Amino acid sequence: MSQTPLEEARQLLEESIIHYKGRPVGTAAARDPNLASPNYADCFIRDFFPAALVFLNEDKPEIVRNFLETVLELRHQQRELSGHQIAPGVMPASFHVECDDKGNEKLVSDFGDRAIGRVAPVDSMMWWAILLGAYVRKTGDRALAETDRFQSGMRQTLDLLLRDTFEVFPTLLVPDGGFMIDRRMGVYGHPLEVQALFYGLLQTLLELLPEGDEACNRLRGLAANRIKTLRTYIRIFYWLDLERLNEIHRYKTEEFGTGSVNMLNIYPESIPEWLSTWLPEKGGYLVGNLGPGRMDCRFFAQGNLLAILFGLTTQEQAQEIFNLYTAHWEDLVGAMPIKICYPALEGVRWQMLTGSDAKNAPWSYHNGGNWPVLLWPFVAAAVKCGRHDLAEAAFEQACNRLPKDKWPEYYDGPRGRLIGRRANLYQTWSATGLLLASQFLEQGLGLDLLPDTPDTGHSEPSA
Ligand code: GLC
Repeated sequence: MSQTPLEEARQLLEESIIHYKGRPVGTAAARDPNLASPNYADCFIRDFFPAALVFLNEDKPEIVRNFLETVLELRHQQRELSGHQIAPGVMPASFHVECDDKGNEKLVSDFGDRAIGRVAPVDSMMWWAILLGAYVRKTGDRALAETDRFQSGMRQTLDLLLRDTFEVFPTLLVPDGGFMIDRRMGVYGHPLEVQALFYGLLQTLLELLPEGDEACNRLRGLAANRIKTLRTYIRIFYWLDLERLNEIHRYKTEEFGTGSVNMLNIYPESIPEWLSTWLPEKGGYLVGNLGPGRMDCRFFAQGNLLAILFGLTTQEQAQEIFNLYTAHWEDLVGAMPIKICYPALEGVRWQMLTGSDAKNAPWSYHNGGNWPVLLWPFVAAAVKCGRHDLAEAAFEQACNRLPKDKWPEYYDGPRGRLIGRRANLYQTWSATGLLLASQFLEQGLGLDLLPDTPDTGHSEPSA
């Protein structure tokens, strides 16, 4: 008898589990016998997150606890990279288990020193911290977070992220490819996805780090302050809708001093033309990146969806983002939920911003491909906003295609109708995305495991 899509997804998840010294500690990124790259056999920190929520929802916290402990320990494997030390608090992108001739197992981690392009895994510590929060909320096992090991790990991470830098913005400055988009794609600077994860991490760690000595209280104070400034900044300056586009279109430039409206000196001429026809009357979103003289108007799905989930947007903004999805379903969802970013970089922009990366050709992979894993944040955010119709439509589409196509990692084309040219098959998070989405949708499970902003009853000013 043939399996249902959810049964198939479950089997893929079970078969991907990695054991270390007899204990389950994570999941391999893919089970394809012809992997696109050998490190897809690794357990990636970000890839394990949806699997972990599935396990927590099913009252199977053991593997999640083992994973949290394992990754925390791996921090000590940090090596010198090209003559400098990686900062304590950074967590690896991925790890795997190696066995010597005598059958002794050891864990081998990648801090960006082995990854293609040597990209820094900035988001790993964020996914780890948010998962720790989910684990504690689900199990009530605060004792784990209160152990010295965990407390010192959390403090190191906060210390690193809140350290004084050259920055004038509350957003976090990161190099290119520091998150799910882990290749050069013009996503250096202040990419939205990292800001949403940073916000989720700050909320979680503030909850898990009790008041303590002076240093700890100082960190807590800094975190509490940063949460507020980050939220206000993102809600105002990253927001784009037709009204705001009108303002930007007529911006004055070269304003000096504290009272300037166009604080970042964005030249209206730098705003792409397609926006004025594409932006609907009803609908808006958070732009992909913002910095001095720079507004990256690409729509990045994961950043917008996590911002909704963690309460980084106002409730009105969350609704507007789903209005945008409704108005542009073909562009942003297409044949396979969900498009990772819109539109794709093409021509000279593709050459300049990706370094002519053939894997990131226009409408492929990170550059406008469609990623089944993004179904879970889409469904979760839609359920949170009461947009069950959209959640169900996306879920149906994914169910109809994924098993038939053998669980590809991503899809190609403006509408996402083609299986990704270099995509792995049997990609674990394509399966866990579907499983988790079904838990959010059909059983209402999971939302309370994620950090959220308490509703203060009023929204931030809109500019
Ligand atoms: C690719 C993706 C990255 C993912 C990894 C494992 O490198 O860009 O986000 O974590 O594959 O699936």
